[in-house]
Amino acid sequence: MQLAKRLKSVKPSPTLSLNAKARALAAKGADVLSFAAGEPDFDTPAHIKDAIKAALDSGFTKYTATGGIPELKTGIVEKLERENKLSFTPEQIVVTVGGKQAIYNCFQALLSPGDEVVIFSPYWVSYPDMVRLADGEPKFVETQSADNWTPDPKELKKVLSPRTRAVIFNSPSNPTGAVISRKALEALADVLRDHDCLIITDDIYERLLYLDGPFFNIANVAPDLAPRTLVINGFSKAFSMTGLRLGYAAGPKDLIAGMQMVQDQSTSNATSVIQKGAVAALKGPTAPIDEMVKAFARRRHLMTDGLNKIPGVKCRLPDGAFYCFPDLSELIGKSYKGVGISGSMKLSEILLDDFLVAAVPGEPFGAEGFLRLSFATSDANIEKGLARLADFVSKLS
Ligand SMILES: Cc1ncc(COP(=O)(O)O)c(C=O)c1O
Repeated sequence: MQLAKRLKSVKPSPTLSLNAKARALAAKGADVLSFAAGEPDFDTPAHIKDAIKAALDSGFTKYTATGGIPELKTGIVEKLERENKLSFTPEQIVVTVGGKQAIYNCFQALLSPGDEVVIFSPYWVSYPDMVRLADGEPKFVETQSADNWTPDPKELKKVLSPRTRAVIFNSPSNPTGAVISRKALEALADVLRDHDCLIITDDIYERLLYLDGPFFNIANVAPDLAPRTLVINGFSKAFSMTGLRLGYAAGPKDLIAGMQMVQDQSTSNATSVIQKGAVAALKGPTAPIDEMVKAFARRRHLMTDGLNKIPGVKCRLPDGAFYCFPDLSELIGKSYKGVGISGSMKLSEILLDDFLVAAVPGEPFGAEGFLRLSFATSDANIEKGLARLADFVSKLS
Protein backbone atom coordinates (compact mmCIF):
# COMPACT_ATOMS: atom_id res chain seq x y z
CA MET A 1 0.00 0.00 0.00
CA GLN A 2 1.20 3.49 -0.73
CA LEU A 3 1.57 5.38 2.52
CA ALA A 4 1.80 9.12 3.11
CA LYS A 5 5.05 10.75 1.99
CA ARG A 6 5.48 12.36 5.39
CA LEU A 7 6.01 8.95 6.96
CA LYS A 8 9.27 8.62 5.01
CA SER A 9 10.80 11.37 7.09
CA VAL A 10 10.18 9.72 10.46
CA LYS A 11 11.74 6.71 12.17
CA PRO A 12 10.23 4.29 14.65
CA SER A 13 11.12 5.14 18.28
CA PRO A 14 14.37 3.24 19.03
CA THR A 15 13.48 3.08 22.72
CA LEU A 16 10.17 1.41 22.03
CA SER A 17 11.67 -1.04 19.51
CA LEU A 18 14.58 -1.96 21.80
CA ASN A 19 12.14 -2.55 24.64
CA ALA A 20 10.02 -4.74 22.39
CA LYS A 21 13.08 -6.84 21.42
CA ALA A 22 14.18 -7.14 25.06
CA ARG A 23 10.66 -8.21 26.07
CA ALA A 24 10.52 -10.81 23.29
CA LEU A 25 13.85 -12.29 24.48
CA ALA A 26 12.64 -12.32 28.09
CA ALA A 27 9.40 -14.03 27.00
CA LYS A 28 11.55 -16.84 25.59
CA GLY A 29 13.12 -17.26 29.03
CA ALA A 30 16.34 -15.24 28.54
CA ASP A 31 17.67 -13.45 31.64
CA VAL A 32 17.52 -10.00 30.03
CA LEU A 33 18.49 -6.95 32.08
CA SER A 34 16.74 -3.92 30.68
CA PHE A 35 18.10 -0.42 31.12
CA ALA A 36 16.05 0.80 28.18
CA ALA A 37 12.80 1.82 29.81
CA GLY A 38 11.85 5.45 30.23
CA GLU A 39 9.63 4.79 33.20
CA PRO A 40 9.90 4.51 36.99
CA ASP A 41 10.10 0.96 38.37
CA PHE A 42 7.84 1.96 41.30
CA ASP A 43 4.14 1.16 41.47
CA THR A 44 1.61 3.95 40.95
CA PRO A 45 0.85 5.33 44.46
CA ALA A 46 -2.18 3.66 46.10
CA HIS A 47 -4.21 6.86 46.56
CA ILE A 48 -4.09 7.46 42.79
CA LYS A 49 -5.18 3.92 41.97
CA ASP A 50 -7.98 4.18 44.54
CA ALA A 51 -9.29 7.39 42.95
CA ILE A 52 -9.30 5.73 39.52
CA LYS A 53 -11.12 2.67 40.88
CA ALA A 54 -13.68 4.85 42.66
CA ALA A 55 -14.29 6.84 39.46
CA LEU A 56 -14.80 3.61 37.55
CA ASP A 57 -17.22 2.24 40.15
CA SER A 58 -19.19 5.46 40.17
CA GLY A 59 -19.75 5.20 36.41
CA PHE A 60 -17.45 8.07 35.41
CA THR A 61 -16.84 6.38 32.07
CA LYS A 62 -18.28 8.77 29.49
CA TYR A 63 -16.75 11.46 27.27
CA THR A 64 -15.46 14.50 29.11
CA ALA A 65 -14.65 17.95 27.75
CA THR A 66 -11.80 17.54 25.27
CA GLY A 67 -9.45 19.81 27.19
CA GLY A 68 -10.02 18.06 30.52
CA ILE A 69 -12.48 18.00 33.44
CA PRO A 70 -12.79 21.36 35.23
CA GLU A 71 -11.49 20.06 38.59
CA LEU A 72 -8.31 18.74 36.95
CA LYS A 73 -7.72 21.97 35.04
CA THR A 74 -8.18 23.91 38.27
CA GLY A 75 -5.85 21.47 40.05
CA ILE A 76 -3.21 22.05 37.36
CA VAL A 77 -3.60 25.85 37.59
CA GLU A 78 -3.12 25.59 41.38
CA LYS A 79 -0.12 23.28 41.01
CA LEU A 80 1.56 25.66 38.54
CA GLU A 81 0.95 28.57 40.92
CA ARG A 82 2.03 26.72 44.07
CA GLU A 83 5.03 24.78 42.78
CA ASN A 84 6.18 26.73 39.73
CA LYS A 85 5.15 30.27 40.62
CA LEU A 86 3.47 30.58 37.21
CA SER A 87 0.00 32.07 36.71
CA PHE A 88 -2.47 30.57 34.29
CA THR A 89 -6.26 30.48 33.91
CA PRO A 90 -8.13 27.22 33.13
CA GLU A 91 -8.56 28.35 29.46
CA GLN A 92 -4.79 28.25 29.20
CA ILE A 93 -4.64 24.55 30.09
CA VAL A 94 -5.26 21.50 27.91
CA VAL A 95 -5.16 17.98 29.35
CA THR A 96 -3.72 15.45 26.92
CA VAL A 97 -3.00 11.76 26.45
CA GLY A 98 0.50 12.06 27.92
CA GLY A 99 2.98 14.91 27.62
CA LYS A 100 3.83 13.42 24.23
CA GLN A 101 0.43 14.29 22.79
CA ALA A 102 0.73 17.82 24.17
CA ILE A 103 3.98 18.36 22.22
CA TYR A 104 2.58 16.66 19.12
CA ASN A 105 -0.58 18.80 19.18
CA CYS A 106 1.49 21.93 19.71
CA PHE A 107 3.48 21.30 16.52
CA GLN A 108 0.31 20.40 14.61
CA ALA A 109 -1.30 23.64 15.74
CA LEU A 110 1.77 25.85 15.28
CA LEU A 111 3.71 24.78 12.19
CA SER A 112 3.21 25.34 8.48
CA PRO A 113 5.39 23.60 5.87
CA GLY A 114 9.02 24.68 6.18
CA ASP A 115 8.65 26.28 9.62
CA GLU A 116 11.60 25.54 11.90
CA VAL A 117 11.87 24.33 15.47
CA VAL A 118 15.15 24.61 17.36
CA ILE A 119 16.11 21.50 19.32
CA PHE A 120 19.15 21.17 21.57
CA SER A 121 21.13 18.02 20.81
CA PRO A 122 21.22 15.40 22.36
CA TYR A 123 17.42 15.45 22.38
CA TRP A 124 14.48 13.24 23.21
CA VAL A 125 14.07 11.11 20.08
CA SER A 126 10.47 12.11 19.48
CA TYR A 127 11.02 15.87 19.12
CA PRO A 128 12.45 15.93 15.57
CA ASP A 129 10.00 13.37 14.26
CA MET A 130 7.01 15.17 15.77
CA VAL A 131 8.23 18.35 14.05
CA ARG A 132 8.57 16.48 10.74
CA LEU A 133 5.09 14.96 11.10
CA ALA A 134 3.79 18.54 11.23
CA ASP A 135 5.73 19.35 8.01
CA GLY A 136 8.23 21.40 10.00
CA GLU A 137 12.00 21.26 9.98
CA PRO A 138 14.04 20.52 13.10
CA LYS A 139 17.17 22.67 13.49
CA PHE A 140 19.74 21.39 15.93
CA VAL A 141 22.06 23.18 18.34
CA GLU A 142 24.84 20.83 19.44
CA THR A 143 25.83 20.69 23.10
CA GLN A 144 28.85 18.96 24.63
CA SER A 145 29.30 16.59 27.54
CA ALA A 146 32.32 18.64 28.69
CA ASP A 147 29.96 21.63 29.19
CA ASN A 148 27.47 19.47 31.07
CA TRP A 149 25.39 19.65 27.88
CA THR A 150 24.71 23.36 28.36
CA PRO A 151 23.58 25.11 25.16
CA ASP A 152 25.83 27.95 24.00
CA PRO A 153 23.80 31.16 23.44
CA LYS A 154 26.02 32.06 20.45
CA GLU A 155 25.13 28.75 18.79
CA LEU A 156 21.45 29.35 19.50
CA LYS A 157 21.65 32.80 17.91
CA LYS A 158 23.28 31.34 14.79
CA VAL A 159 20.47 28.89 14.15
CA LEU A 160 17.52 31.27 14.73
CA SER A 161 15.93 32.43 11.48
CA PRO A 162 12.74 34.18 10.33
CA ARG A 163 11.31 30.66 9.93
CA THR A 164 11.96 29.71 13.57
CA ARG A 165 8.57 29.21 15.20
CA ALA A 166 9.69 27.51 18.42
CA VAL A 167 12.63 26.53 20.60
CA ILE A 168 12.27 23.56 22.93
CA PHE A 169 13.96 23.16 26.31
CA ASN A 170 14.08 19.94 28.31
CA SER A 171 15.79 20.24 31.67
CA PRO A 172 16.30 17.80 33.39
CA SER A 173 17.01 16.18 30.06
CA ASN A 174 16.24 12.91 28.44
CA PRO A 175 18.73 11.44 27.52
CA THR A 176 21.56 13.25 29.36
CA GLY A 177 20.05 13.87 32.81
CA ALA A 178 21.63 17.34 32.63
CA VAL A 179 20.05 20.40 34.21
CA ILE A 180 20.62 23.82 32.62
CA SER A 181 21.79 26.26 35.30
CA ARG A 182 19.90 29.45 36.10
CA LYS A 183 22.75 31.56 34.73
CA ALA A 184 22.91 29.62 31.46
CA LEU A 185 19.16 29.82 31.07
CA GLU A 186 19.31 33.60 31.58
CA ALA A 187 21.90 33.90 28.81
CA LEU A 188 19.73 31.81 26.47
CA ALA A 189 16.69 33.93 27.39
CA ASP A 190 18.68 37.04 26.40
CA VAL A 191 19.04 35.64 22.89
CA LEU A 192 15.38 34.65 22.68
CA ARG A 193 14.24 38.07 23.84
CA ASP A 194 15.23 39.40 20.40
CA HIS A 195 13.46 36.67 18.50
CA ASP A 196 9.69 36.42 18.52
CA CYS A 197 8.96 32.70 18.67
CA LEU A 198 7.28 30.25 21.00
CA ILE A 199 9.39 28.84 23.83
CA ILE A 200 8.49 25.32 24.86
CA THR A 201 9.68 24.06 28.22
CA ASP A 202 9.25 20.30 28.58
CA ASP A 203 9.25 19.95 32.38
CA ILE A 204 8.30 16.27 32.46
CA TYR A 205 11.29 15.39 34.74
CA GLU A 206 10.86 18.39 37.09
CA ARG A 207 10.36 16.26 40.20
CA LEU A 208 13.30 14.00 39.46
CA LEU A 209 15.89 16.56 40.42
CA TYR A 210 18.92 15.77 42.61
CA LEU A 211 20.35 19.26 43.05
CA ASP A 212 19.74 21.57 46.00
CA GLY A 213 17.06 24.16 45.46
CA PRO A 214 13.74 24.15 43.66
CA PHE A 215 13.09 23.34 40.03
CA PHE A 216 13.02 26.32 37.63
CA ASN A 217 12.36 26.79 33.94
CA ILE A 218 12.87 29.62 31.46
CA ALA A 219 9.60 31.34 32.43
CA ASN A 220 10.91 31.52 36.02
CA VAL A 221 14.28 33.03 35.14
CA ALA A 222 12.88 35.34 32.44
CA PRO A 223 9.30 36.22 33.49
CA ASP A 224 8.97 38.64 30.56
CA LEU A 225 9.11 35.61 28.25
CA ALA A 226 6.39 33.73 30.17
CA PRO A 227 3.53 35.01 27.92
CA ARG A 228 5.08 33.19 24.96
CA THR A 229 6.14 30.07 26.84
CA LEU A 230 4.32 26.75 26.62
CA VAL A 231 4.83 24.53 29.66
CA ILE A 232 4.62 20.79 28.98
CA ASN A 233 4.23 18.41 31.88
CA GLY A 234 2.52 15.17 32.82
CA PHE A 235 1.95 12.47 35.38
CA SER A 236 4.02 9.67 33.81
CA LYS A 237 7.40 10.21 35.41
CA ALA A 238 6.51 12.09 38.61
CA PHE A 239 3.69 9.79 39.69
CA SER A 240 4.76 6.57 37.97
CA MET A 241 1.70 6.64 35.71
CA THR A 242 3.32 6.01 32.31
CA GLY A 243 0.75 3.52 31.00
CA LEU A 244 -2.16 5.60 32.23
CA ARG A 245 -1.24 8.30 29.70
CA LEU A 246 -1.93 11.71 31.13
CA GLY A 247 -0.19 14.98 30.44
CA TYR A 248 -0.96 18.65 29.95
CA ALA A 249 0.16 21.89 28.42
CA ALA A 250 -0.19 25.42 29.80
CA GLY A 251 0.41 28.44 27.63
CA PRO A 252 -0.90 31.19 25.36
CA LYS A 253 -4.70 30.98 25.02
CA ASP A 254 -4.80 30.98 21.20
CA LEU A 255 -2.21 28.20 20.96
CA ILE A 256 -4.03 26.14 23.60
CA ALA A 257 -7.28 26.60 21.64
CA GLY A 258 -5.50 25.42 18.47
CA MET A 259 -4.06 22.40 20.28
CA GLN A 260 -7.49 21.58 21.61
CA MET A 261 -8.91 21.74 18.10
CA VAL A 262 -6.31 19.17 16.95
CA GLN A 263 -7.33 17.01 19.89
CA ASP A 264 -11.07 17.51 19.18
CA GLN A 265 -10.52 15.97 15.75
CA SER A 266 -8.20 13.16 16.84
CA THR A 267 -8.41 11.56 20.29
CA SER A 268 -10.97 13.77 22.09
CA ASN A 269 -10.49 13.73 25.86
CA ALA A 270 -7.86 11.85 27.85
CA THR A 271 -9.40 8.85 29.61
CA SER A 272 -12.09 10.02 32.04
CA VAL A 273 -11.15 7.96 35.10
CA ILE A 274 -7.44 8.65 34.71
CA GLN A 275 -8.22 12.36 34.93
CA LYS A 276 -9.77 11.65 38.35
CA GLY A 277 -6.59 9.81 39.30
CA ALA A 278 -4.58 12.86 38.26
CA VAL A 279 -6.71 15.09 40.52
CA ALA A 280 -5.84 12.75 43.40
CA ALA A 281 -2.15 12.80 42.38
CA LEU A 282 -2.02 16.59 42.62
CA LYS A 283 -3.84 16.71 45.96
CA GLY A 284 -2.45 13.58 47.59
CA PRO A 285 0.52 12.82 49.85
CA THR A 286 3.98 13.30 48.40
CA ALA A 287 5.61 10.58 50.54
CA PRO A 288 5.51 7.86 47.83
CA ILE A 289 7.08 10.26 45.33
CA ASP A 290 9.73 11.40 47.80
CA GLU A 291 10.67 7.78 48.43
CA MET A 292 11.01 7.12 44.70
CA VAL A 293 13.15 10.21 44.15
CA LYS A 294 15.38 9.21 47.09
CA ALA A 295 15.94 5.79 45.51
CA PHE A 296 16.81 7.34 42.13
CA ALA A 297 19.18 9.82 43.80
CA ARG A 298 21.06 6.91 45.38
CA ARG A 299 21.05 4.70 42.29
CA ARG A 300 22.45 7.43 40.03
CA HIS A 301 25.67 7.21 42.09
CA LEU A 302 25.69 3.42 41.98
CA MET A 303 25.38 3.38 38.20
CA THR A 304 27.69 6.33 37.46
CA ASP A 305 30.45 5.05 39.78
CA GLY A 306 30.19 1.56 38.30
CA LEU A 307 30.32 2.86 34.71
CA ASN A 308 33.37 5.00 35.42
CA LYS A 309 35.23 1.93 36.70
CA ILE A 310 34.95 0.24 33.28
CA PRO A 311 37.95 1.03 31.06
CA GLY A 312 36.95 3.17 28.05
CA VAL A 313 33.67 4.31 29.64
CA LYS A 314 33.17 7.86 30.95
CA CYS A 315 30.00 9.02 32.62
CA ARG A 316 28.90 12.34 34.12
CA LEU A 317 26.76 12.21 37.24
CA PRO A 318 23.22 13.07 36.07
CA ASP A 319 21.57 15.95 37.97
CA GLY A 320 18.03 14.87 37.12
CA ALA A 321 15.75 12.32 35.38
CA PHE A 322 16.71 8.63 35.67
CA TYR A 323 19.26 8.17 32.93
CA CYS A 324 23.02 7.75 32.84
CA PHE A 325 24.44 8.78 29.48
CA PRO A 326 27.96 7.34 29.32
CA ASP A 327 30.46 8.16 26.61
CA LEU A 328 31.76 4.92 25.05
CA SER A 329 33.36 6.55 22.02
CA GLU A 330 36.76 5.04 22.92
CA LEU A 331 35.25 1.63 22.19
CA ILE A 332 34.04 2.55 18.71
CA GLY A 333 36.38 1.05 16.12
CA LYS A 334 37.33 -1.93 18.32
CA SER A 335 36.02 -5.37 17.50
CA TYR A 336 34.11 -8.10 19.24
CA LYS A 337 34.53 -11.69 17.97
CA GLY A 338 35.90 -10.27 14.74
CA VAL A 339 32.96 -7.89 14.21
CA GLY A 340 33.85 -4.21 14.06
CA ILE A 341 32.00 -1.87 16.41
CA SER A 342 30.92 0.78 13.96
CA GLY A 343 28.87 2.89 16.36
CA SER A 344 26.45 2.96 19.26
CA MET A 345 23.78 1.03 17.31
CA LYS A 346 26.23 -1.90 16.93
CA LEU A 347 27.26 -1.61 20.59
CA SER A 348 23.65 -1.79 21.69
CA GLU A 349 22.93 -4.73 19.38
CA ILE A 350 25.86 -6.83 20.67
CA LEU A 351 25.05 -5.96 24.28
CA LEU A 352 21.52 -7.24 23.88
CA ASP A 353 22.23 -10.27 21.69
CA ASP A 354 25.33 -11.60 23.48
CA PHE A 355 25.17 -10.12 26.99
CA LEU A 356 21.39 -9.75 27.46
CA VAL A 357 21.74 -6.11 28.42
CA ALA A 358 19.28 -3.65 26.85
CA ALA A 359 20.78 -0.16 26.58
CA VAL A 360 19.57 2.46 24.11
CA PRO A 361 22.13 3.66 21.54
CA GLY A 362 23.01 7.38 21.61
CA GLU A 363 22.85 7.80 17.83
CA PRO A 364 19.07 8.37 17.56
CA PHE A 365 19.34 10.97 20.37
CA GLY A 366 21.90 12.84 18.25
CA ALA A 367 24.89 11.60 20.30
CA GLU A 368 26.93 8.95 18.51
CA GLY A 369 29.33 7.09 20.82
CA PHE A 370 26.98 7.29 23.82
CA LEU A 371 24.53 4.86 25.37
CA ARG A 372 21.50 5.67 27.50
CA LEU A 373 21.00 3.48 30.55
CA SER A 374 18.02 3.98 32.82
CA PHE A 375 18.59 3.47 36.54
CA ALA A 376 14.88 3.05 37.13
CA THR A 377 15.59 -0.55 38.09
CA SER A 378 16.81 -2.40 41.17
CA ASP A 379 20.29 -2.07 42.68
CA ALA A 380 20.81 -5.80 42.02
CA ASN A 381 19.99 -5.35 38.31
CA ILE A 382 22.29 -2.34 38.08
CA GLU A 383 25.18 -4.30 39.61
CA LYS A 384 24.57 -7.33 37.39
CA GLY A 385 24.26 -5.13 34.30
CA LEU A 386 27.49 -3.30 35.07
CA ALA A 387 29.30 -6.63 35.47
CA ARG A 388 28.01 -7.76 32.06
CA LEU A 389 29.05 -4.48 30.46
CA ALA A 390 32.54 -4.83 31.99
CA ASP A 391 32.71 -8.41 30.69
CA PHE A 392 31.80 -7.19 27.19
CA VAL A 393 34.45 -4.43 27.27
CA SER A 394 37.11 -6.92 28.47
CA LYS A 395 36.42 -9.04 25.37
CA LEU A 396 37.05 -6.24 22.87
CA SER A 397 40.20 -6.18 20.81
C1 LIG B 1 11.64 14.41 27.43
C2 LIG B 1 10.31 13.76 27.44
N1 LIG B 1 9.24 14.52 27.20
C3 LIG B 1 8.00 14.00 27.19
C4 LIG B 1 7.80 12.66 27.41
C5 LIG B 1 6.38 12.18 27.33
O1 LIG B 1 5.95 11.41 28.37
P1 LIG B 1 4.42 11.00 28.49
O2 LIG B 1 3.80 11.08 27.14
O3 LIG B 1 4.44 9.63 29.03
O4 LIG B 1 3.80 12.01 29.42
C6 LIG B 1 8.89 11.82 27.64
C7 LIG B 1 8.72 10.37 27.81
O5 LIG B 1 9.62 9.58 27.69
C8 LIG B 1 10.18 12.39 27.68
O6 LIG B 1 11.27 11.66 27.93
